Amino acid sequence: MQILVGIITISDRASKGLYDDLGGPALKKAAEGYGWKVAEEALVPDERRDIQKAILDQSRKGCGLIVTTGGTGVSLRDVTPEAVREIASRELPGFGEIMRAESMKITPNAILSRSLAAVVEKSLVICLPGKPSGAVECLSFVVGAIPHCVEVVQEVPTSC
Ligand code: MTE
Repeated sequence: MQILVGIITISDRASKGLYDDLGGPALKKAAEGYGWKVAEEALVPDERRDIQKAILDQSRKGCGLIVTTGGTGVSLRDVTPEAVREIASRELPGFGEIMRAESMKITPNAILSRSLAAVVEKSLVICLPGKPSGAVECLSFVVGAIPHCVEVVQEVPTSC
């Protein structure tokens, strides 16, 4: 099954043009490297409503996988997990557990990320840290479970 991917960069500063979005392009390169088709890209500020609108928009355009980068940390402006939980039908805790555990082998600051995965409508949404290398690393730790999960949420018949 061809996985259609939506990428959302969540950053106040990048959305204001104060610096370039490096996370979105880094995730695009990684996604294409996994053989997926990047169908949608968005850049939004750290605002719950903007985050939710971007996710629902990409989901309704057929993205079975939506990856976000940014807003998972400790600052009061970091609201990605709260935004996603409000529109999710279920959370998949294993993704966050593995991303933090594996990232702790790289940086002690990994414990600060509230990275998560959840099902929103018919999409798997994975929320990754904002640092481009961290986002790509975290995606690599969970990539093995993504194709099957996307098939299930998209209701494609599977053998297991
Ligand atoms: N995970 C990996 N693999 N590599 C990283 O560099 N950075 C951490 C963490 N997770 C990092 C990582 C840092 S410094 C922070 S503050 C948190 O992710 C949250 O980042 P965010 O608020 O930009 O989402």
